[in-house]
Amino acid sequence: MKVVVFSTKPFDKSYIVQANNGTHELTFLDMRLSAETAPLADGFDVVCAFVNDDLNRETIAQLAKAGVRMIALRSAGFNHVDLAAAAKAGLVVARVPAYSPHAVAEHTIALILTLNRKMHRAYNRVREGNFALDGLLGFDLHGKTIGIVGTGKIGELVAQILDGFGCALLAYDPVENPNCTALGLRYVDLDTLFRQSDVITLQCPLMPQTHHLIDADAIGKMKQGVMLINTSRGAVVDTSALIAGLKTGQIGNVGLDVYEEEADLFFKDLSQTFIPDDVFARLLTFPNVLITGHQAFFTHEAVTAIAETTIANISAFERDGAPIHPVPTVAGD
Ligand code: NAI
Repeated sequence: MKVVVFSTKPFDKSYIVQANNGTHELTFLDMRLSAETAPLADGFDVVCAFVNDDLNRETIAQLAKAGVRMIALRSAGFNHVDLAAAAKAGLVVARVPAYSPHAVAEHTIALILTLNRKMHRAYNRVREGNFALDGLLGFDLHGKTIGIVGTGKIGELVAQILDGFGCALLAYDPVENPNCTALGLRYVDLDTLFRQSDVITLQCPLMPQTHHLIDADAIGKMKQGVMLINTSRGAVVDTSALIAGLKTGQIGNVGLDVYEEEADLFFKDLSQTFIPDDVFARLLTFPNVLITGHQAFFTHEAVTAIAETTIANISAFERDGAPIHPVPTVAGD
């Protein structure tokens, strides 16, 4: 099939070419897919899109006009696609439902360990010939209580790894995971988790029920000096409340891989300009805040799986008229 790949990043092109192995005719564009760029898909059967592409109603109409029959998303999320418009235009939408929960779980642990033992600060100090230990004091993770919010695929792996460190495990999830209870993890209500945990890590999806789950009220219930980690979705945390909690010392350490307004920042190189988001810029001023730019998924294994599943979706669509992982279509206009 003729496939045009939008938002190509240097890091994923080689993986897609390898997974394709000459099967489909691929054209790579580094620009984002939007209503303005959609006419570039003229004559292609499939568009392959990434997380920050804008597949709104107008884009979909342009794609249909261009003769496109399938949208192959290189992501699990599909909140950037107008599914009703796609269904009406007869466009099939496919996605990559899961790639590597290990990648995200291991990055979560990396944030906890780096923040606790101040690796990022120690690295710079030693390179400058400063071997003083002041300001680098950490704590033993052994024996500490970890509160995991969401024990699905990623949360379960986080629990397994921290069990190996000798931590006591608490969790909140409306659905209990027997593999976690088998580890000795105890399910509790959110209030208990907030009050008893030394480290709180968020592994739940963003939904109306979890939007700003961590707000001023929740932070007020937490232990003084708690460590908070978010590798799920930015809007699970109210950033203003987080900054207030850091300023009072109620929150002792924060590790974030996601941020509620990240769409205007992450995946871009802004190093030659400035950070236009004052709230984010304020977060960066705290020595006890460590931020990565939505890279928890970013391992060789996960990027390989994304490329292979994307190509498999396209091949299944060509062969059977339906991808392996369709996004459920939505009725309506
Ligand atoms: P999953 O679907 O396996 O697990 C999610 C768990 O959250 C389920 O057990 C579910 O019952 C639970 N949950 C639902 N509502 C909840 C609530 N109100 N409070 C607490 N828990 C609740 O998903 P998986 O694969 O473990 O991923 C979790 C999240 O991680 C994703 O939704 C995504 O937002 C994030 N993620 C982040 C990545 C990154 O690069 N930073 C990459 C991939 C996923």
